[in-house]
Amino acid sequence: MSVERGIGKVPERYRHMRMEDLVRETERVRARLGDQVAILGHHYQRDEIIRFADHTGDSLELSRKAASVEAPYIVFCGVYFMAETAAILCSPEQRVIQPVIEALCPMAEMASRKQVSAAWDALSTVWDEPIIPITYQNSNADVKAFVGERGGAVCTSSNARRILDWAFSRGGRVLFTPDEHLGTNTALEMGLSESEVGVWNPLAPASPETFSECRMVVWKGFCSVHTGFTLEDVARARAEHPGARIVVHPECPRPIVLASDASGSTSQIIDVVAKAPAGSTIVVGTECHMVDRLARQYADKEIIPLARRECGSMGLTRLEHLLFALEGLASGKAHNIVAVDPDTAAGARLALERMLQ
Ligand code: 13P
Ligand code: SF4
Repeated sequence: MSVERGIGKVPERYRHMRMEDLVRETERVRARLGDQVAILGHHYQRDEIIRFADHTGDSLELSRKAASVEAPYIVFCGVYFMAETAAILCSPEQRVIQPVIEALCPMAEMASRKQVSAAWDALSTVWDEPIIPITYQNSNADVKAFVGERGGAVCTSSNARRILDWAFSRGGRVLFTPDEHLGTNTALEMGLSESEVGVWNPLAPASPETFSECRMVVWKGFCSVHTGFTLEDVARARAEHPGARIVVHPECPRPIVLASDASGSTSQIIDVVAKAPAGSTIVVGTECHMVDRLARQYADKEIIPLARRECGSMGLTRLEHLLFALEGLASGKAHNIVAVDPDTAAGARLALERMLQ
């Protein structure tokens, strides 16, 4: 059996299958595997994947699900930090499979443990209070481990405010990685002033004294999907759809969030759409696979993308990859197992469990 080289490699025969054959074969092997497998899918996955997901959700919901499902195999359709989180939270006997294991979130790659540790050391020279590190779920396990080892926690876009409240209630200052925009949006909504929030650029760090008056320092990392929305997009949506509600993800820069009517995690956005009365118009500023699905699901409402922006990493997983993963399991060969070394997993688990508690 020849396996193609490169991202999302599958044997040649899968690449020539028609969609209806892929669907039929996936249904067959899925039924055969029964409760041996739980398929988890992030909201940004393609429809061809979501139709086979046993559980869909935002990052927080999928983490909770990974910690509670009992199937021996968790097939995680999303990006690497999500599957890695599942591998850290599930029981040692379970295995996590990521059908396209090369699907990485570029934002998570913007902070390494070494860089975060250097920022921590620099800030320790100017801050007397304890530093509470908080990392967004969109980070690699070694950064989560650093955070866990130093008494901090993970947050997601749906609980960032609560986690930051917890951090500040401990009387310290916060180093927030890796999303500048989620960190800034949340801090300013909590009442911090702009001068209290500093931005740490890991590629050209300013002198630590620059941050001496800051209560929180946010990492200069970003999501190119959400930073791609512009004020012109918002103005166009307002002009073309007067009376529409605009809801965006908090990975969008502050001016976009301020110009919109609401912001929230992917599940919170879905909730806004689900609860809107029939006939209403909602403009959604997030990844377009999810917005397209919402438009089809809620045909009694008008659901419009703020702009069409696709996450290339989330889009890598196609049905041929899921089928290959499931057929592998059915024949006793697990492909693309996500493994985290035990020391890193132990530190990261501390940070994740603080969040889940
Ligand atoms: P959610 O937790 O809102 O699903 O966000 C994950 C993500 O990667 C958004 O870009
Ligand atoms: Fe990462 Fe942005 Fe894609 Fe989310 S949408 S997975 S933050 S690149």
